[in-house]
Amino acid sequence: MNLDKLLNIKYPIIQGGMANITDGKFAAAVSNAGALGTIGSGGMKADVLAKEIDICKGLTDKPFAVNLIMFRSDIKELVEVVCRAKVPYVIAGAGSPGPYMEDFQAAGIKVMPVISSPLQIKRLDKFDIFAYIAEGMEAGGHIGEMTTMTLIYQVAGATDKPIIAGGGIGSGAQMLAAEVLGAKGVQIGTAFLFTDEVPVHQNYKDLLMHTESHRITSIGNLNGRPMRLVKNPMTREFKELERSESDKEVLEDFTLGRLRKAVYEGDVDQGSVMAGYTAAQFDRLYSVSELLEKLMSEYQLAKNSVK
Ligand SMILES: Cc1cc2nc3c(=O)[nH]c(=O)nc-3n(C[C@H](O)[C@H](O)[C@H](O)COP(=O)(O)O)c2cc1C
Repeated sequence: MNLDKLLNIKYPIIQGGMANITDGKFAAAVSNAGALGTIGSGGMKADVLAKEIDICKGLTDKPFAVNLIMFRSDIKELVEVVCRAKVPYVIAGAGSPGPYMEDFQAAGIKVMPVISSPLQIKRLDKFDIFAYIAEGMEAGGHIGEMTTMTLIYQVAGATDKPIIAGGGIGSGAQMLAAEVLGAKGVQIGTAFLFTDEVPVHQNYKDLLMHTESHRITSIGNLNGRPMRLVKNPMTREFKELERSESDKEVLEDFTLGRLRKAVYEGDVDQGSVMAGYTAAQFDRLYSVSELLEKLMSEYQLAKNSVK
């Protein structure tokens, strides 16, 4: 994997932006530990994002990214903030960065869109994309339909730009599998929820440490925007609501509001405990540095074992 060289960082790993969770302080901690830290702007208004970028810049001199959710109605203001701050990288989730590519380029920002199907490459390849983050449905948070196994292989064959694999990667063996399928690096979200530094209520972490894979499910497949999370009373309530409510925005507000309930208040019954399948692979917390060292040593072991 050579994403470390492409991004000028120590490890070929991007910490995926997580709405209401990965703030400027956390992104800086990840960047200082050798991966690419990402501020998740989901849940932040433009002025808050500007402050979090300042915090991040104050805590690290390493590269970092900002994750933008492109379908947001106030996206123009957020784009202005990242361009003014000249952040090194933008990770564009949930929608196309196309309309803002000229602004990003003028500010010297490298753009990595998150994609969930090969079709998106056809639409985006005409732009000056730095790399694609292809994310399979094993991931925590919002998801597409394809699995990481099929998606990475197919997108790697569809473009000359670097592919970064996300979704279901939480060990060195899974990193190596992604590399064999054509990825130059990985984006990881769920595994970072198992760190001491991540600003998530302890109840959220405790629940995840005891979560087995059969407890991980998806909602929003009927009317909403599909997402992966831990099964609880909230997921049952959502499924009821989805039968009578077809407005995507109403359903989205419900799940994001409930994410804040879980993350800030620690209500893991009524809140959305977003996490991907790799949550079942962890039963303790690590420091961010320990987690990255563990991933890299497992990756080396996995590489040696297939020689
Ligand atoms: C709690 C949580 C919140 C997330 N929020 C966002 C988000 O705001 N924007 C985004 O593009 N991706 C979001 N993601 C996806 C991550 O950035 C990352 O791509 C994904 O977690 C990788 O798959 P994994 O969970 O299997 O490691 C979120 C994931 C989780 C677990």
